[in-house]
Amino acid sequence: MAQEPSRRQSAQRVGRFTESVIREQSRIALEHGAINLAQGFPDFDPPAFLIEALQAVLAKGGNHQYANTWGAPEFRLALSRKISREVGRMVDPDRELTVTCGSTEAMIAAMMAILDPGDHVAVFSPYYENYAADGILAGAEAVHVRLHAPHWRFDPEELRSAFRDQGCKALVVCNPSNPCGKVFTLEELETIAAILQEYDALAVTDEVYQHITYHGRTHIPLATLPDMADRVITCSSLSKTYSITGWRLGYVWASPRWTDAVRKVHDFLTVGAAHPLQMAAIAGLEQPDSYYQELSKEYSRRLEILLPALSDAGIPALRPQGAYFLLADISSTGMGDVEFCQFMARDLGVSPVPGSSFFEYPVGNLVRFHFSRRDETLHEAARRLRKLPRML
Ligand SMILES: Cc1ncc(COP(=O)(O)O)c(C=O)c1O
Repeated sequence: MAQEPSRRQSAQRVGRFTESVIREQSRIALEHGAINLAQGFPDFDPPAFLIEALQAVLAKGGNHQYANTWGAPEFRLALSRKISREVGRMVDPDRELTVTCGSTEAMIAAMMAILDPGDHVAVFSPYYENYAADGILAGAEAVHVRLHAPHWRFDPEELRSAFRDQGCKALVVCNPSNPCGKVFTLEELETIAAILQEYDALAVTDEVYQHITYHGRTHIPLATLPDMADRVITCSSLSKTYSITGWRLGYVWASPRWTDAVRKVHDFLTVGAAHPLQMAAIAGLEQPDSYYQELSKEYSRRLEILLPALSDAGIPALRPQGAYFLLADISSTGMGDVEFCQFMARDLGVSPVPGSSFFEYPVGNLVRFHFSRRDETLHEAARRLRKLPRML
């Protein structure tokens, strides 16, 4: 006898966000065989020392069961040494660090650890689309604070209002920012810190692009500003720094009391990150400063392939200060961003992602390209892009 399908509905929270537009655009790119400049992950392998480290870990054996839930002690020690060196103070691997499945898990664990249903959380806009879903999953309401082009500065009064008038408990800061490539200056971070102090608010930062900055810009962790250590939960990952997005290794760095709260969520979300991959990734954490300088240099080179091509194509982009994305202005094409991205994937063989997915206000004239691709892939994308004016 035929079974009646269930009339039960999925949870309301699931209905409040849609599938990632980036992943959908990636699917369209795949369907048309287009160069995928939508989803930001490298098309090249990680450095050889990481592959070798992974082979050595596998050859040695013994790391195939659950690691310590907070992260393998050896990994946390190596991570604490790296961060301590960068920030000039000792970071306690046992009380301040939690290893997660990427910054993706770090962010949701941090938000769930500090936000109650009904709380408000301020988010700079444009924003990385995961933050909207993170907020919804935590039951919180997002309050968007605009970053204004071309320098993507914020109005301190608007930020203050998010706390004073809307009662935000925390602020989400992506630094360097996806999608706009902003690297917050010390002065801007000081303004944010003062406002957090004024309203006894917290910050959750996403610093996955910390080692990819351009033109002498340096990334400053908000947590390192005076009196911020107990207000800032720093999330980051190894995905972009070592070109290992598939290894799913990230972490939360926070003071012991926030670490305790994050660990409770993390334990039940995922138990922990992959043990053998943590052991192998120690080789990355032990790299000297020159590794990170070289990483930024490599991305600068890739940026210089794509940026002029966009300008020649008549869709100029603002120069980013960090991360590996470009927001191009497609006003001259007369198309909306969704239509343009589909046209690009189908007819030109290069696939960006609609900019509107990163803004809470209507923006139809921007599309985002990423340039985490081999030089030859980017040269081919540039060649195709230069054909655009003839195709319109
Ligand atoms: C701003 C930002 N945060 C987090 C992530 C995901 O990082 P992870 O691989 O560490 O989960 C991305 C990936 O594109 C990103 O752009």
